[in-house]
Parts: sequence; C-alpha cells; structure tokens
Amino acid sequence: MCGIVGYIGKNEAAPILLEGLKRLEYRGYDSAGIAVINSAGVKCIKSVGRVKKLEKLLLKKKIGSNIGIAHTRWATHGKPSIANAHPHFTTHKNIFVVHNGIIENYQELKDQLKKKGHKFVTDTDSEVIAHLIEDCYHPTRKDSDDKPKGHFEKAVKAALKKIIGAYGLAIICRDEPDKIVAARYGSPLLIGIGKKEKIIASDAAAVIGRTKKVIYLEDGEIAVINGSKIKVSNIYSAKGSEASGKSIKKKINTITWGQDEISKAGYNHFMAKEIHEAPEVIINSTRGRCIAARSLAKLGGLESVKKELKNISRLIIVACGTARNAGLVGEYMIEEAAGIPVEVEYASEFRYRGPIVNKNTAVMAISQSGETADTLAAIKEAKKQDALTLGIVNVVGSSITRETDAGVYNHIGPEIAVASTKAYISEIIILALLTVFLGKTHKNMSAKKAKEILYEIEKLPKKVQSIFGQEQIIKKIARKYKRSDNFLYLGRKYNYPTALEGALKLKEISYIHAEGHPTGEMKHGPIAMIEPDFPSVFITPKDSVYEKNISGIEEVKARDGKIICIATQGDKKISKLADDVIYIPKTIEMLTPILAALPLHLLAYYIGVGKGYNVDKPRNLAKSVTVE
Ligand code: G6P
Repeated sequence: MCGIVGYIGKNEAAPILLEGLKRLEYRGYDSAGIAVINSAGVKCIKSVGRVKKLEKLLLKKKIGSNIGIAHTRWATHGKPSIANAHPHFTTHKNIFVVHNGIIENYQELKDQLKKKGHKFVTDTDSEVIAHLIEDCYHPTRKDSDDKPKGHFEKAVKAALKKIIGAYGLAIICRDEPDKIVAARYGSPLLIGIGKKEKIIASDAAAVIGRTKKVIYLEDGEIAVINGSKIKVSNIYSAKGSEASGKSIKKKINTITWGQDEISKAGYNHFMAKEIHEAPEVIINSTRGRCIAARSLAKLGGLESVKKELKNISRLIIVACGTARNAGLVGEYMIEEAAGIPVEVEYASEFRYRGPIVNKNTAVMAISQSGETADTLAAIKEAKKQDALTLGIVNVVGSSITRETDAGVYNHIGPEIAVASTKAYISEIIILALLTVFLGKTHKNMSAKKAKEILYEIEKLPKKVQSIFGQEQIIKKIARKYKRSDNFLYLGRKYNYPTALEGALKLKEISYIHAEGHPTGEMKHGPIAMIEPDFPSVFITPKDSVYEKNISGIEEVKARDGKIICIATQGDKKISKLADDVIYIPKTIEMLTPILAALPLHLLAYYIGVGKGYNVDKPRNLAKSVTVE
C-alpha cells in the first residue's frame, strides 16, 4: 500500500525522506517520488521500481533543502509509471501533493477543473487534489509569474471540503515555502517530533529511526507544520459549515515498538496482520460500491461492458488456489441470487479441455496478483474464442488487468504473506456485489433482495471484528490438534468452498495433510479415514443445509472421530455434538463463507506457528506463480 513521508527541520531533507521511504518498503509499492523545496523552487524526482533507483537519481543532483515530501505508490488508478507516481503537481508547479487513499468523486472534480483550464497529465485520482488546492489558492492565475493570491492552509481546507473519499496527505506550496500541510480522513497519518525536526508519515515505521515521539492525526484534522510549530485544527465543523480554525491540543505519544514489529503493525507475522485487516478489507472493497439505500451495487470497472453483460447467458470463472475457492462461493451466489449459470474452472485446466465458449459467455479471472500464469493463459484462450473477459484483481496494472476487457479491483493493498487470506475475503465480497450487479442487469433480482444483501454487507466489518474475540479459543484448538497428521474439512452449499479453503490453508501453512469435501460426499469415500481422534472440521452455520450437516457430524461421531465446528452464535445443539466450537455471528446464507473463513485462516495460522514454521513463506510455495 502507498506510503507517505514528509520532512521539515534543520537537516538536509532528501536523505531523511529516502530513509523513511526505505522503512516503508515492506508495505509493497511499484514506484516512488520525492519533492523538496528551497528558495529556487521545487525539485521533484520520480521513478518506477525500487527506492534505490530513486536514490541513484537523487545522488546525481545536489539539492540543498530542509523541507520535502515523498511517497511510495502502490497503483490503484492508473498503471505504475513515472507520471502516475507521486508527488503530483499543478501546471504552474506551485502545489505538490502526496496522497494515500482513494478519491471517489475525482472524475467529476477533474471534469470541472478541466473546464477551468487545468491540464491533467496522469491517470490517477490523486492528481485532482493538487489542482483543486491550486484552484482554491489562486483561482484567477493566468501565468506562472502571477503573485500568489491565496492562503495555503485555507486553500487546502476549502479543497478538502469538495472531496469525497479517503485521504492521508502531505502537501507543499512553492509560494509558501516554509511549511508542510498534512491532513487525514480515513487514511492514517502521524507527525514524529524529533530534535529540531518534524517527520510526517503514514506509518510509524518511517519515523522510528529518528524519534519515538509522535502525534497521531484523527480523521478530519489538518496540521500546518512550520519550523518548530505544529498547528492542528479541524477541516470540517460538526455541522458541516466552516470549521473554526481553532487549534486542537494534541497528545504526544511514545512508540514502544521497534522497527521490525512496526512493519508488521505489532503482529508476529504478515499473515496474522492480513487476517486481522479483514474489517478494513471489507470497507475498502465496498467503498463507493455498496449503496444499500438505493439497492445499488456500483461497479465502475464494469460500466464499459454493461451492455455486453446484459447479453451473457453464462459465466465461467477461471482461477487458481484460494482465488478459485472464492470463485466457487461466487458460483453459488450468482446462480442462486442472480439466476445466471456459472461454472468454475481450474485455470490450469481450462485451455486444455477445449472449452466451448462464445460471445454470450463471459470468462472472469480471479487473481490477487493478476500475474498467475495459468489464469492469464485461460483468459487469453477465452479471448481467442470471442468471450467477454473480466477480472477481479488486486494488483493494478498487472498482466490480467491489461488482458481483460473490464474488471473490478479489490483495493486492499498488497498481500505480503504467501498464503492468501485477506484477498479471499475481498474476492468473495466483490462477488457478492457482482451478484447484485448481475441480478439487477438481468432483471432477476428485486430491489428488495438487493437491498437486503447490501445492508448485510454493510454490517460485515463489525461482525468480522467480533470473531477476533474468539482468538484464544482458536489458539487452544490449534494447540490441541497440531500433532494430528490428517484433517478433514466438510461443508455444504455455500460452505463447501469454505471447507476447500480451510483445508488448503492448513496444508499450505502447517504441511498437515488436509482434504476438503462436500459433507454429503463424505460417505462416498472420505469416511473410510475416520478413526478415533481423527479431526473433522465441519462448517455448519444455521442455513438451509444445517440439518444435512448435522447428519454428517453424527456419522463421524459414531466412529469416534473428533469434531470441530464453525457454528452460528447461540447454536446450542452444536455445542452438544462437537468437541470444540468456534462461533460466528449470524448473517444471510450467501455471506456466511466470509465469516466462516476467518476462524479457519486463524486455525491454520496458529497450527503453523505452533509447529514452528515460517508461516509467511511456506516451503515450496510462491506468492505469484508466473510459470505454467
Ligand atoms: C499461489 C499462492 C496461492 C494463491 C494462488 C493464486 O499458488 O500460493 O496462495 O491462491 O497462487 O494466486 P493469485 O495471485 O492468482 O490469486
């Protein structure tokens, strides 16, 4: 995910900014940039690739400056390129901005500003912020020699009031070269207080080498850092009118962590961090897309093919590993709630089985990395046969996004742990939105049904959060079963894919043999494995197949197998049947796989950790499998 660093103090800014960027590298990024300011103006240098490359470019230029901003970008709007890298600036090179977050109404703002003569040179949403500030700062500017007319801080405030979306921002202004303005709404930002210097950052990791004293900005706060002074005030007033501008007294906090822990946000592993990001993953994947009040699932990335989508009679999902498991959940959702036939294919099999595809078929790839060779090859095959090709992809500008006709981004930041967890949650959420989108375009879903699904999606972040309250129970179960050599995972209907995902995750992380099956299939083979103490994990929320699952549990119990259940809160029957239970909150049937996946990801994590394995980098696996 993107990273921000800003510096103002008595030292040379550029090396400190670079140091900060290096400390944010763990977050993943595709390009980087820096802008420093002195009496001669602003020097802005950007590059695609590693921070080291940017450093080399900077070494060639000597720029004396004590103030600057810098950024590592992880593409969301527009592919990785020098132009799209931050800082973004205006035509007159007066305002320079680094931004984390997403501006939802950027297109509308861009159109308005273009009419006023602003020239845009990037594909990003962030560029609009610089132009908007400039427009508020200097509305009548004709040429670059015009004297400043504005007031930097006021202009930033005025601009931010027009923005809908999330931001963490650090901004400099050539015409007021003695300060940095920083602002936050929905994207973290802090100010490190060092010896005669201040460091602005999106993540404490960037400041920890220079100071452990920090001020955290809250949503809706703006800070002006000028020499040794920091003034924090509100951007918005409580009633939405002009905020008073009165300074807010901020607490100075002391960071007690070291660099290593901070990069994992206090977790021991990236995998744990990513599992715990689930609430914000759901918020980020649905932002601007889940509009329950209007029964609307807005998927901007599919607008360009809406007409073609109306005509499809069949959807084929191609994916690998965890992404395929998410696709299977989508199959149940889209068939049941949107009334469109869906097939899910192993991407690696698709092109070899001579698939029958035509222009009324949409072939959709699901891929976190967007680079999985098998999935890419499946999409190329579908294209050859004239199918409409779509993608659900996390990495912007990746090969699959370039190859497909249209698609939806996950917008969840980089996933660093090799085993996919947060992407799985996001992929299912997007498939739920797609279900509403397709159900409505095909006129197979009522507004009432759409509203019900979307309202339930909105409630998920809180429900997901409550599952973490059971972590001690999950840890205990992990300790109890970590020496088992085999596991069975069983579920029906929507949670048959959850069983596959639970088994896959356990295999990947703990190297324990695990199989996932539909509960009903158990009696046709897997039941032969059951013997006393053999653990079976049943995914049994209170849904339309609940009683069928209970029969499966009874069959295992009759053979003295051990039973672990994922069940709905308040289910007393299960607690009598199972040896161990992890409860999940109640939700509508099609969304239960999201809640049920979390305890299974945590169980795999704690078993892997308990066995002493490197869960972030399991043996023999790669994050992005770019070979067939
Ligand atoms: C690899 C990873 C899996 C992942 C799969 C698909 O096998 O180890 O965790 O699910 O690739 O990756 P993708 O990037 O296409 O989602």
